[in-house]
Amino acid sequence: MRIPIIAGNWKMNKTEEEALQLVSDLKQRLGEVTGVKVIVCPPFTALFSVNKALENSSILLGAQNMHWEEKGAFTGEVSPTMLLTVGCKFVIIGHSERRSYFYETDHSVNLKVKSALKFSLSPIICVGEKLEERDANKTKEVIEIQLKGAYKELSDQQAEKTVIAYEPVWAIGTGKNATPQQANEVHVFIRKFLSDEYGEEISEKINILYGGSVNPKNSRELLAMSDIDGALVGGASLDAVSFEGIVKSAI
Ligand code: PGA
Repeated sequence: MRIPIIAGNWKMNKTEEEALQLVSDLKQRLGEVTGVKVIVCPPFTALFSVNKALENSSILLGAQNMHWEEKGAFTGEVSPTMLLTVGCKFVIIGHSERRSYFYETDHSVNLKVKSALKFSLSPIICVGEKLEERDANKTKEVIEIQLKGAYKELSDQQAEKTVIAYEPVWAIGTGKNATPQQANEVHVFIRKFLSDEYGEEISEKINILYGGSVNPKNSRELLAMSDIDGALVGGASLDAVSFEGIVKSAI
């Protein structure tokens, strides 16, 4: 049985003070929740303080990106060890905004995934097609290329510790979510890829999250689908009431 995961991707939002306010609200609202893993991914500048604020809470901490090297001359980058020291357990890798605005490739995604696993961080690996790719009937082809890239040279034990987020690019921040059926069809395809690569037992253990305009109104229907094991939430994770609604719809 996969425990659903609801992860909030705060993107480039929330100063340290605002982040602490949101976490304090979330702790009050979600303190008693069981049967779902809740993760928040604040910007780098708030990780240290949010980690402290999350003490004695079941809410887990994740980062939105990292470099694959442990240290060195990489101006402006943050390493996996740095994330560990501020309490991160998860790290989002290869978000479509990183791929499109910062030119991340399947190769850099693979380097980051391998590095995260080496340092015992669970990568939340993002894949998803653009609108023109969906319209050209290329969704599965695109997803397969991204998955092959991300999972290159990963052992069974490593693969088991990964999380996938299927985020159709056309659904991110647009208010236009994939229908539960559209999303689940891709999730089933992703699970088949994992099963072909790592066997059915491992594929059944990996959480595949849906992301793209998830809100408290559409989350229950999405999460009820056979292969949707949680959500990666952007905009609606910035508001404690909305995020609470999504988390509770997963139980
Ligand atoms: P959204 O973003 O929920 O605002 O569409 C999701 C994401 O980019 O992870």
